[in-house]
Amino acid sequence: MSYRLQSSGAPAGVLAIESPLHDLEVIIRSRTPLVAVETNEEPQIVRITRKIGQRLQLKAYRWTVTEGLQAFDPCDQPLQSLVKSQDILGYIKTESKYSLFLLLDYHPYLQDSVHIRQLKDVALTYEKHYSTVLLVGPSLKIPEELLPFTAMFRLPLPTPDELRGIVLEVAGEWGAEHGRREVETTNKSLDLLVRNLGGLTATDARRIAARAINDNGIIGEADIPEVMRAKYELLGRDSLLAFENETVRFAEVGGMRRLRQWLAVRKDFFHGAQPEFDPPRGVLLLGVQGCGKSLMAKAAAGVLGVPLLRLDFGVLYNKYYGETERNLRKALETAEVMSPCVLWLDEVEKGISVDRDDDGLSRRVLGTLLTWLAERKKPVFIVATANDISGLPPEMVRKGRFDEIFFVDLPSPENRREILTIHLKKRGLDPIAFNLDELTQVTEGFSGSEIEQAIVSARYAAHANGGDLSQADLITEINQTRPLSVVMSEKIDELRRWAAGRTVPCD
Ligand SMILES: Nc1ncnc2c1ncn2[C@@H]1O[C@H](COP(=O)(O)OP(=O)(O)O)[C@@H](O)[C@H]1O
Ligand SMILES: [Mg+2]
Repeated sequence: MSYRLQSSGAPAGVLAIESPLHDLEVIIRSRTPLVAVETNEEPQIVRITRKIGQRLQLKAYRWTVTEGLQAFDPCDQPLQSLVKSQDILGYIKTESKYSLFLLLDYHPYLQDSVHIRQLKDVALTYEKHYSTVLLVGPSLKIPEELLPFTAMFRLPLPTPDELRGIVLEVAGEWGAEHGRREVETTNKSLDLLVRNLGGLTATDARRIAARAINDNGIIGEADIPEVMRAKYELLGRDSLLAFENETVRFAEVGGMRRLRQWLAVRKDFFHGAQPEFDPPRGVLLLGVQGCGKSLMAKAAAGVLGVPLLRLDFGVLYNKYYGETERNLRKALETAEVMSPCVLWLDEVEKGISVDRDDDGLSRRVLGTLLTWLAERKKPVFIVATANDISGLPPEMVRKGRFDEIFFVDLPSPENRREILTIHLKKRGLDPIAFNLDELTQVTEGFSGSEIEQAIVSARYAAHANGGDLSQADLITEINQTRPLSVVMSEKIDELRRWAAGRTVPCD
């Protein structure tokens, strides 16, 4: 069902400043001469300062290097023009009374000894003017001399309600611009959009929302992948987390009924639908290679409607020699910033097998990972996959690390049938044209991946013979395949024995 979205109620600008406004007001009232505000959110800090000025009956000014000093209320505008970065500080010290000075882009001057001295003078003479200076910049390095007089202030990120407000506001603007009052959307798409804007500043959220709306005036599910990617570009690109473009629908996974059900039941709780429930935190998928564990990680992200980030252990160990743990911690922090998201630890046993000879590095990596798994606060759903138990440290599989450990076995006849169907259809072939009973039978012992490969190869063979893919082509290809389950039957038996009692079957 789609409906039309009308911008209504309080604009986000109003919503988004309530709590930071209160916090900053407290700082100013506690007679702090200097406040350092590290932010890119200039419009927001301007709005807040102006509002505090009104509430506390203080004169309020902003200063930029190009426009000089401007009073928010024209009546307060000083007679002389004050443009130079030093003049303004002299003015504050000697002429001002009960005022707020918002100095934008002031960070270059904080390196200069004259400016530092002047700011210190302003602070030391506070009792004469009762004016507060707010230094604003994307990153501020406050010199040591000024630290005793300076309060740090951070703008909090918008809450989900505020993000919704921002989207409504952007939708309203789009409507006004296009002579229409509405943007078309569904509840589901709107929720998805708002959810995926989480962790962004108001400005970035606004920009990304505008991009999603502006192309066609629709907020649809089709916009979401682009939103996720844009968010990753802003927040995650520098980390060791790879953004996986390809997420998958449940319909593309054969079998794994129990696991699918498990996820479906928990989906809404992951998004905090009912905070009194413990949100799902993650699963470990253990089992036979090629049977769909990686596929299921992608499906988990698809079903939860959030980005999929893969932690690349290979890069973690190779690229930044000597900085492995720090980079892991950074990557995990990024996952929290990117939340809600799925964090995929693919073939985790290779990343943390602790018996290798590396001066205890992988042990420390394991420790870092386990600590984070236990302590993380944000909605980051973990999907860890492993093919091999011998490399898997026992701490990893101890109860409570993951919500559940699922065992992914070779597909049953019924599931092979499903997998055949999925992969034939995926290639534009009609499953009804084939004898699926027979194909199911002859693929006994095949993994999902091997079934797929057989179809792929048989198509080439058919093409080389100048015909369409036939049952016979498939049978020939299948008969030529020696599935891993034959080659590795002992290993698989061992895996099954280990899994019995320790894991839950995914079917
Ligand atoms: N249960 C399945 N349903 C559908 N396709 C499957 C299934 N298992 C494997 N495949 C196919 O084989 C490919 C490789 O499987 P993958 O998920 O990488 O296995 P694993 O991670 O368990 O080793 C998948 O991308 C998919 O195309
Ligand atoms: Mg895999």
